[in-house]
Amino acid sequence: MAEAQFDVVVLGAGPGGYICAIRAAQLGMRVAVVEKAPSLGGTCLNVGCIPSKALLESTEIYHLAKEGMAQHGVSVGEAKMDLKALLGRKDKVVSSLTQGVAGLFKKNKITAFQGVGRIAAPGQVEVAGGAKAERLSAKHIVIATGSEPFPLPGIPFDGKRIVSSTEALSFDKVPKQLVVIGAGVIGLELGSVWLRLGAEVTVVEMLPGLLSGVDEQMGRAALRIFTKQGFKFHFGTKVTGIKTGTGGNSGAGVQVTCTDAEGKALQLAGDAALVAVGRRPYAEGSGAKEAGVAFDPKGRIVVDAQWRTNVPGIYAIGDVTPGAMLAHKAMDEGIALAERLAGQAGHVNYDAVPWIIYTSPEIAWVGQGEDQLKASGASYKTGSYPFSANPRARTLGETDGMVKIMADARTDRLLGVMVIGPRAGDVIAEAAIAFEFGASAEDLARSMHAHPTLSEAVKEAALGVAGRMLHM
Ligand code: NAI
Repeated sequence: MAEAQFDVVVLGAGPGGYICAIRAAQLGMRVAVVEKAPSLGGTCLNVGCIPSKALLESTEIYHLAKEGMAQHGVSVGEAKMDLKALLGRKDKVVSSLTQGVAGLFKKNKITAFQGVGRIAAPGQVEVAGGAKAERLSAKHIVIATGSEPFPLPGIPFDGKRIVSSTEALSFDKVPKQLVVIGAGVIGLELGSVWLRLGAEVTVVEMLPGLLSGVDEQMGRAALRIFTKQGFKFHFGTKVTGIKTGTGGNSGAGVQVTCTDAEGKALQLAGDAALVAVGRRPYAEGSGAKEAGVAFDPKGRIVVDAQWRTNVPGIYAIGDVTPGAMLAHKAMDEGIALAERLAGQAGHVNYDAVPWIIYTSPEIAWVGQGEDQLKASGASYKTGSYPFSANPRARTLGETDGMVKIMADARTDRLLGVMVIGPRAGDVIAEAAIAFEFGASAEDLARSMHAHPTLSEAVKEAALGVAGRMLHM
């Protein structure tokens, strides 16, 4: 078999892999990407970030048409939802973006191979399962094979009634009753989608509260809002089994057996159960183990600060490595690694990773939450400002939530910025940049913020750190 020669072969065309490939090509390297799925873009574009955000947007518009427009004096008659059209739009958004990645590959002269890429030896990759078997040689191999949904122990997904986020993007009818297991990012985002479409959504979470990583005060605020929206929560509750073909409105759904916080048995019926208890790294079929690449006990590939594995010439980035399982973290690692391979000094600042949860309202943060700071014994000052006092939020008619800023008590350097409120995902951008620049709360407070904007709530919270809010 002829062997194609490359400088870099990337396994996986998700956000980590495809961005690494583009940056490496920009830097003059000959680059190939091997992707087992028929379309490029990985989990994020095909069955993750993008389709879920498309559904969140459509269902939010539906919700507004039903309940949110009257306050603006707009009436549109009875709002109706065409589920087929809604899912079709989501699929179109996805295919336009995955085709966009293919276009970027073409523009950057990156060769894409469809099939499973297996490291046969350092510097050697075999592509199997695609249209044609191929053998590639590469100076550098980058493993960017991502992650997959974690099933509950002993309860496998069946794709119909016990589903992961993938199937919950495409239910062909709205489940009357949906049991969501895990009050994390996916549970709340996809739970919101089906709740807005009329499902009764019950969330079972083994921890005492939702969104385990989030600042406690923000978590409490979110819980109040989500409960008002109609979510039902069972905290401190463990799922012990799921029986299919019995519960739910259809009588052929699921019966979820749990043990609640007091140790009492609890039965929940649903038309489907969405299991959203986390994701696990995925490197199946990549040949990494056989090539001697070291994994940690959680199945993640061990890398150093320059994304090198223990095997020379093999690197790993994104969800398959330790750290936040976020597309933008993987993308930045891809850029920095490509620059390292070109002899440059790419780096990633893991202290400035923004998090966004696309519920309504959105929740976003960068840095540490107040409870984390307390636990670490840090000495800090806080400032917080509610959106109810922000003129732009008033004009939008979306006043739930607030901005909270924590800064070092001695140096005033930002330690954490938390936002819950309208378009928090956009509002957090300035905080992420401020973190990157090592800014102080005063830097934020003295920067001119356009009026009227939601970002003025950041300025006011920053002023609050110094005890001098203007509109409070
Ligand atoms: P997650 O880690 O956010 O939440 C999982 C939740 O399930 C936790 O609260 C955990 O305590 C709970 N849990 C675990 N085992 C349980 C059990 N047996 N019974 C009841 N509860 C249990 O994980 P999730 O939501 O599955 O998302 C996976 C990852 O995907 C996230 O960590 C995130 O990195 C990424 N993601 C990011 C998004 C964003 O940035 N907007 C959107 C969706 C996913």
